[in-house]
Amino acid sequence: MRIIGAKDYDDMCRKTAHLLSAQVILKPNSVLGLMAGSTPLGVYKLLVEWYTEGDIDFSETVTINLDEYVGLAPDDPQSYRHYMENNFFRRVNIKPENTHLPYGFATDKAEECNRYEAVIRKYQGIDVQLLGIGHNGHIGFNEPGTLFEKNTHFVRLAESTIRDNSRFFESESDVPRFAYTMGIRTIMQARNIVLIASGVGKSSILKDAFTGPITPLVPASVLQLHNNVILVGDEEALSKLV
Ligand code: GLP
Repeated sequence: MRIIGAKDYDDMCRKTAHLLSAQVILKPNSVLGLMAGSTPLGVYKLLVEWYTEGDIDFSETVTINLDEYVGLAPDDPQSYRHYMENNFFRRVNIKPENTHLPYGFATDKAEECNRYEAVIRKYQGIDVQLLGIGHNGHIGFNEPGTLFEKNTHFVRLAESTIRDNSRFFESESDVPRFAYTMGIRTIMQARNIVLIASGVGKSSILKDAFTGPITPLVPASVLQLHNNVILVGDEEALSKLV
């Protein structure tokens, strides 16, 4: 694993946006694995700026997101599809048909998971997967205890995730209880992984994930087994690691 230290949140976003933009410049038809959450917001903002200035072209790029809530329509302001449209897709020249997220309203859950895995296969896998980390060590919505061999699957969210994510909803009871997520196996098949983290709140879990035992109890710890992981963290997030 390589660790890239950043001064603060803005610096972390800049460094991450540079990595993603280099990927797209080197391989315009890259398959980017993207994510929602508060951490990547500044990354998307920069990529949009650089696109607007003519520095990056997403016309051939494909994106495949990590996860989506179950039971929220794509245009629901809390859905990850809406987040991605609002913060990134609609603001750059990516083709709508090249953007992929699980469909939160699918009637057949198993079929939706298979469809999603087939999408990833169709593009011959993910070139760079962007990841965050939950306070409980989750990646995507792979909560503590998830088997490492899972592909895309339907999950019940952990109580701690529901609490954490309630800040985006009017009340905790509005947070969906279920989601689709790429599984650990799906994530581990990405050719490169960039995990981003900011703030002192993530420092303990980063230490557990990258220096502790590899265990399903800390899902992100599996990344110790991946050959091409870059951790981009700001000083606070990395304070217990370096
Ligand atoms: C959600 C997402 C995760 C993400 C996590 C971190 O739970 N499903 O993929 O890693 O949020 O969120 P934040 O960046 O807001 O801390």
